[in-house]
Amino acid sequence: MNRRRPQGRVKMDEHTFSSLKRLMGYVFKNYGRLFVLVILLIIVSSLANVQGTLFIQSLIDDYIAPFIGQRDFDKTGLFYALLRVGGFFGIGVIASYGYSRIMVNISQGSLKMIRDDMFKHMQSLPIVYFDQHTHGELMSRYTNDTDALRQMLGQTLPQIVNSLMTIISVFISMLILSVPLTCITVLSTAMMVFISKKAAMLSGKYFGLQQASLGKLNGYIEEMMDGQKVVKVFTHEEEAKRDFDVLNEVLCENMTKAHGYSNMMGPISNNLGHLTYSITAMSGAVLAIQGIGSLTLGGLASFLQFTRSFNQPISQITQQFNSIVMALAGATRIFDLMDQAPEIDEGKVTLVNIEEVNGQCIETPKYTGKWAWRHVHPDGSVELVRLQGDVRFENTNFGYTEDKMILHNIELFAKPGQKVAFVGATGAGKTTITNLINRFYDIQSGSITYDGIDVKLIKKDDLRHSLGIVLQDTHLFTGTIADNIRYGKLNATDEEVIAAAKLANADHFIRHLPQGYDTIITGDGASLSQGQRQLLSIARAAINNPPVLILDEATSSIDTRTESLVQKGMDQLMEGRTVFVIAHRLSTVRNADVIMVLENGEIIERGNHDALIQQKGKYYQLYTGAFELS
Ligand SMILES: Nc1ncnc2c1ncn2[C@@H]1O[C@H](COP(=O)(O)OP(=O)(O)OP(=O)(O)O)[C@@H](O)[C@H]1O
Ligand SMILES: [Mg+2]
Repeated sequence: MNRRRPQGRVKMDEHTFSSLKRLMGYVFKNYGRLFVLVILLIIVSSLANVQGTLFIQSLIDDYIAPFIGQRDFDKTGLFYALLRVGGFFGIGVIASYGYSRIMVNISQGSLKMIRDDMFKHMQSLPIVYFDQHTHGELMSRYTNDTDALRQMLGQTLPQIVNSLMTIISVFISMLILSVPLTCITVLSTAMMVFISKKAAMLSGKYFGLQQASLGKLNGYIEEMMDGQKVVKVFTHEEEAKRDFDVLNEVLCENMTKAHGYSNMMGPISNNLGHLTYSITAMSGAVLAIQGIGSLTLGGLASFLQFTRSFNQPISQITQQFNSIVMALAGATRIFDLMDQAPEIDEGKVTLVNIEEVNGQCIETPKYTGKWAWRHVHPDGSVELVRLQGDVRFENTNFGYTEDKMILHNIELFAKPGQKVAFVGATGAGKTTITNLINRFYDIQSGSITYDGIDVKLIKKDDLRHSLGIVLQDTHLFTGTIADNIRYGKLNATDEEVIAAAKLANADHFIRHLPQGYDTIITGDGASLSQGQRQLLSIARAAINNPPVLILDEATSSIDTRTESLVQKGMDQLMEGRTVFVIAHRLSTVRNADVIMVLENGEIIERGNHDALIQQKGKYYQLYTGAFELS
């Protein structure tokens, strides 16, 4: 959602400068020449306007004043003079259209590159980064912050250059026309700027309050929309409305004050503008009549025109400057994301296909469905270790943050083909253990080995490729059902997709959907039931035929009848693989080779179902107390 940032006081610091430098780096790297052309066009446009205005002097003095009162005079001179004025203004218009148009291309192109770089970098960031930043906050870098940059590059930056050019060229022209009159104009403009700044500060305070209360109101609406169902279930509609009214009232008050003052600003600065204009006109008239400083009538007319073009950019430039600093704050946030250290992967051991020739395993570029770890030793010798799915934790300690350890002294041996189940109360650390096998996080001490190789030595992509993972919160992407299953193996054939769906027992429900495997799902699979979503994610994990499977509460949302179906499918799926399963249902856990009971990050009991039930310890309690025994 587009939440506007509070408009506070803006200030420049070294971040702002370095962001500006980097931003301009994007512009110059790819559009350097075009940008130089833009600057040239801006100079042409402001000079043409100045020339046009200056020409009024010669128009009046040379072509109008001498002929006043004459009935018959040579009109060709006047005609050409008018043509030249028109010409100058015409060039100004074309040049300013030209630079605005080019700036649109430059800014959109640069932003596209920034978004590309940002997304590419975001994909390389470790999970920890996403734990520390909310999605909304990250999203706003792609929306709000890039939008502020678009406005700055496309509009404000050329405007500010234009304003500066205009101020300089107008100032020089005014000096040429009349030095004393220029002094008067500069003084009265300074007074005008001072007074409008005071008024702006007053309304600025309320604009800040307005933005803050708008942010609160938006946040409240967002929360109420997300929690619609909860509000209705607890019939809290009245309370929600009451809280909303309070926030709405505050916003209304602040907005009224902010806009009240800012509406006053328009007339104030307009009147001050008129005042400056009148002071200049009166002083100019005196100077012209008395012939002081050789000011002619035409000169005065041009000068008065300049007074207008001088005031305007001066009062605009502070505003433009502020909006540039605010946009650069957005740029700083964008670059901050780009500067985050990517997920480190020092792993060298890779996953390769193998085939057996004369009883010997050799590496092959072909897809054989048989895998081995390719280990290059420091002396250059290559060792192939067959991928079997032997996972071991030795004395492993882990915490998401250094100061709060979650897992303590985890000892775990999963032999190829074994099914290891984790049970324990919520928050005990079950998901955390699986997060370590796939190296979403790195452990603080101890070791985790996979087929005898330390997981830190394995290239992350290859490690994850060898694992089939069904995460606790299923996530489906917009696309067809088949596409979603194929996510686990991009080159899978239709037959493989269907086989995987059958293995996960998802085939039956998919065939009953209107378009079967081609049914489009959107919004994280909102049109499917929780259980169906889980079945799809099981199929997605199964399609790659991984030697190790991690199922995190994969069956918890499935009804008892479907559960037995899934169970059969899962048993097929689990055959010959190492499986880590976290499930609250006894049926899933019961036939595990070993059950680990976790409490507060420690394994407190281990053994098979019968042994643990006999032990009458925590496992017995968990399943006789909290869960039904099937
Ligand atoms: N990303 C994270 N950052 C910090 N702490 C976390 C994070 N994820 C989990 N924790 C903490 O780690 C502990 C273990 O969480 P974990 O998700 O492993 O529990 P769980 O056993 O899977 O629970 P459940 O049965 O509810 O899924 C909890 O105390 C939790 O607050
Ligand atoms: Mg969990």
